[in-house]
Amino acid sequence: MSKTPPVISGGLPVFGHALEMMRDREKLFKRGFQEAGDIYTIHLGPQKAAVVTGAEWNKIVYTQTDKSLNMNVAYAFLKESIGEVLFIASPETYVNQRPVLQEVFKRERMTTYVKAMNREVQSWLDSLEDQGEMDITAEMLRLTQYVAGAALIGEDFRTELGEAFWKNYGAISRSMDPILPPRLPLPKFLRRDKAKLEIKKVFHDLIAKRRHDPANYDDLISTLLTTPLKDGTFMDETTIVSMFTGLLFAGHETTAGQAAWLVTLLLQRPDYLRLVEQEIDRIVSLDTDIDEMVLRKLETIYWAIDETTRMRPSADLQIRTVTHPFQIGDFELPKGWRVILNAANSHFLPEVFSNPYQFDPLRWSPERAEGKNPFAIIGFGGGIHKCTGMNFAKNEMAIITARLFQQFELELLSRDIRIIQGAGANHPSTVLVRYKRK
Ligand code: HEM
Repeated sequence: MSKTPPVISGGLPVFGHALEMMRDREKLFKRGFQEAGDIYTIHLGPQKAAVVTGAEWNKIVYTQTDKSLNMNVAYAFLKESIGEVLFIASPETYVNQRPVLQEVFKRERMTTYVKAMNREVQSWLDSLEDQGEMDITAEMLRLTQYVAGAALIGEDFRTELGEAFWKNYGAISRSMDPILPPRLPLPKFLRRDKAKLEIKKVFHDLIAKRRHDPANYDDLISTLLTTPLKDGTFMDETTIVSMFTGLLFAGHETTAGQAAWLVTLLLQRPDYLRLVEQEIDRIVSLDTDIDEMVLRKLETIYWAIDETTRMRPSADLQIRTVTHPFQIGDFELPKGWRVILNAANSHFLPEVFSNPYQFDPLRWSPERAEGKNPFAIIGFGGGIHKCTGMNFAKNEMAIITARLFQQFELELLSRDIRIIQGAGANHPSTVLVRYKRK
């Protein structure tokens, strides 16, 4: 008879491991792995969840998604904040919307996105004093908002979206709560509903302008308006607003957290930073944009990006729900169980990554090629729902790194930098640096 994975110790009556998971999930996952190996069970209140580790099981989970597993049940808490789009929608709705998602991320558009990244990163650097102190975590959050706005809406995004947009977006983003019922009359949920209405009003006007004068626009909204869904119909206004909010959510806080860690980890490894600076001196001109040809040559920066994804992933866990009894290893997971992929163990397996707790970007060089199995790390997901914005995010982080270290000397002042876990993306605590224009 098939069996379910072993339950790890420490579960409390009623809550099971839920409190421990809320307090420090990395510690819980590591403890579970030491105790029970690469597939084990935790109890989250009445909900049972199998935690799996390693490329072999990660691959099964990714390839079974939308077959024996789904995403939308576990991520249902996002529905009230964002709407029925992307992986928050049912697998059928997702398949119907997929052609639009592919259109938004098709290769040719990257050139426009990269130009927007260049513009926004340079204008951020120009806005800094010649010397001073700043918190990289806060700066990256603002910068990635501007990059997302500029790339998705265009150069006029500040006037088009209006002053209040980011405040309203922040109210939506802060309302995301995987635990509380999303319709409780709590202040944060009321603020969310008000913000959603206001954003909808802004979009109503933006959409009307594009409907009235389609030839004048080639941005995300016009793409969402004019690209047919799989069934031949078009997205309605509510879905367009949800798609935009969903893309911003998927795209900017994740990138902000990872970009802040990237700068931090480089500053903590001055010897590797020197290699990066030499590469920048060799390849990046001050006077011309960093285009895709230049980006392709910045290999030490991209290795550092991959190493940051491994060591400090913004998306350190992913969750699925079992829709049909599901075999993994020697176990069978019954319908209704959750499956959790975790970076805490998968990204630090010593048989895959040598000296796994060391920030060592050269492990990604072709000579060493550690973790070449695409399912060894989960930082950008995998399978059909693998992050469609991965290249966008990596290019953005590369441009930030190249321009920042080209034009400024930085000294890391913060010492005890911690991982802050959010409802969506992880990010570092305050990263105070002293900077000086070169
Ligand atoms: C460092 C930055 C980023 C990280 C760490 C990240 C991570 C992820 C992960 C882990 C998933 C899969 C979730 C799962 O399987 O449960 C995902 C999906 C997705 N991401 Fe990203 N992401 C990043 C940046 C972006 C950007 C910049 C965009 C868009 C501009 C974006 C758009 C998306 C979309 C649309 C999906 C859903 C894909 C689908 O369901 O087919 N992401 N991302």
